[in-house]
Amino acid sequence: MLLGAGLSGLLSVAGAAVPPLLLGTAWYPEQWPQSRWPKDLALMQAAHIDVVRVGEFAWSTFEPRQGVYHFGWLERAIAEAARHHIYVVIGTPTAAPPAWLTRRYPQTLRVHADGRRAQHGNRQQFSFSSPLYRKFCRGIAARLARHFGRNPDVIGWQIDNEMGPPSFDAETRHQFHAWLRRKYHTIAALNRHWATAYWSQTYDHFSQVPMRAQGENPGLLLDFRRFVTATWASYVRNQVQAIRRYASPRQFLTTNTTHWGDQFDQYAINRELTLASWDDYVPDGRYHWLDNAVEDDLVRGYKRRDFWVMETQPAFADWAPVNAALPPYAMRDLAWQDVGHGADAVLYWQWRSALNGQEQYNGTLIGPDGEPVPAYWVVRKIAAQFALAAPAIAATRPHSRVAMLQSYASRWAIDFQRQTIRFGVVREFTAFYEPLERFAQSVDVVGARAPLGRYRLVVAPALNVLSGAEARHLAAYVRAGGHLVLGPRSGMKDPYDALWTERQPGPLVPLLGGQVQQYYSLLHPVPLRGRLGSGFASIWAETLVPQAHDTHVLMRYGTSNGWLNGKPAVLTRRVGKGSITYIGAWLDPPLMRTVLDALARDAHVRPLIPGVADNVEVCERLGDGKRVWILINHGRKPHVVHLPAPAASLLTGGPARRTVTLAPHQVSVLLAPLT
Ligand code: GAL
Repeated sequence: MLLGAGLSGLLSVAGAAVPPLLLGTAWYPEQWPQSRWPKDLALMQAAHIDVVRVGEFAWSTFEPRQGVYHFGWLERAIAEAARHHIYVVIGTPTAAPPAWLTRRYPQTLRVHADGRRAQHGNRQQFSFSSPLYRKFCRGIAARLARHFGRNPDVIGWQIDNEMGPPSFDAETRHQFHAWLRRKYHTIAALNRHWATAYWSQTYDHFSQVPMRAQGENPGLLLDFRRFVTATWASYVRNQVQAIRRYASPRQFLTTNTTHWGDQFDQYAINRELTLASWDDYVPDGRYHWLDNAVEDDLVRGYKRRDFWVMETQPAFADWAPVNAALPPYAMRDLAWQDVGHGADAVLYWQWRSALNGQEQYNGTLIGPDGEPVPAYWVVRKIAAQFALAAPAIAATRPHSRVAMLQSYASRWAIDFQRQTIRFGVVREFTAFYEPLERFAQSVDVVGARAPLGRYRLVVAPALNVLSGAEARHLAAYVRAGGHLVLGPRSGMKDPYDALWTERQPGPLVPLLGGQVQQYYSLLHPVPLRGRLGSGFASIWAETLVPQAHDTHVLMRYGTSNGWLNGKPAVLTRRVGKGSITYIGAWLDPPLMRTVLDALARDAHVRPLIPGVADNVEVCERLGDGKRVWILINHGRKPHVVHLPAPAASLLTGGPARRTVTLAPHQVSVLLAPLT
């Protein structure tokens, strides 16, 4: 494992280290005459751009006819980039098959859920399970790797681009049935776990099982998502193996993932890869720092290490109902926030718009005339700051003492049957995240099976699907002195999406010494009060029953709909030096904060820098004897921050100080020794 050191710190090219913090852009040289490239690259170099991602939609240029390969242009583009000290990440072009391929082999085209076959055009029109399509993918990936796998200026590979939609063709159905057969062995086992006597769903053969992504038996739906995950994982593996055969081990392998993407389990996909990366867009231009912070932490958790932001918007994107521009300060704050949460690179999408094509309106760094647009100058300043801070950032990363547990099975299961449309899983997760991030100033977001020993506090906002093994893992954490907080809807379902007969939290009922008596979706806010404060529950409320003598009620509902009146809403129990707490309601934001602050204090969680104003974000990266603080004032007023140790400003220079004054929207990057 490479834990403990920043990935970029480990990259080296022919002895020369790649900068540990990179700023880059998506560049499409195939869309421009080669005579233009030196000008593009000179403008990039002047803007301190260190890396370009290329090639991810260039299949028709790489292989204009079946078996005819043109890689010379990319070789020349990479060489020209190297002359400008710019490194390259190559994207495999498989998200956009060329027309000759889909015309000659229409069976590689994706089939939509309603049975319609996709037409050629746009992108992502392929079927992810098609053996024939995979053969072509393997072919182009292997050829690219053979050509560029030892190129010292190529530092990594991106597989495909924002993978997502499954296919509903006959081949996929066949593979789904085979997957079910491997999982259940007998149809009787499937019938039992899915409780198929309900609505006469009993199957005699695996081949009778329908393939649907919604409106079906929840056990089937959950398994379909797992099958989709396994299929995308093997889709990625197919290309990874092809590339690994020829590529230098120093080249990383990643795929760029989307905003809270849940079409498959990201942990599983990232197991195939060496680096997690994501595309950080705020297309409506409304940048809420906590909403973006949680996504950085989510992606850092995919591999539990530093990551890349493979795409972000130069001012604006082009795919929201209103594509508003981020203010220049927000572009800077967002980039530094990404770094503060563990990004080692931030790349802007894109350098220049193709003169035609679907994305003419997306933000760019240069205009159709080839000259800088305003965003170029903003990016140039950010890049200059990155260059100043890079040596300090090398081999550092965030180290959190608080973890939040995120599970795709739970997310999917709640989404299949929300019970109230208002229960957005991401919203609920973020409602727990915000106070935790404000208090602890560093939160890891990890899967339910991640090692937990280093955390003082572990919070699972809605661990709806909880397996026996996961429950044992969590119980062991508590027995070892950890503090576990479960949110509403936790522990309701087994791994087959069937109801646990113990009621919630299922296999954790004995540890909690209590259980959920009943759940309710709410029309109106319900008052609740107790030792931790008072406020309201909205959207969701569960009544709880303590069963063990040492399980305590921390909060009760006030008078409301009759079902909830006076009933326990929060239970807690000490277990040795650890504890388990169950919060049965979606609390209003001030109460959520009071409750989580109290639980964090009980768990001996301490802020990294105490006494900081609400609008000031504190990030910390540690490693190699260094402590780097990234402070971002997201507010409109100046703030003074008192540091626990003297630190030197990397962006402005000057001696180490204990006090920093942050102007509105100012970023400060500070280096202090790690004592
Ligand atoms: C991303 C995608 C890019 C480009 C960009 C536009 O989601 O990966 O290829 O389409 O959006 O904002």
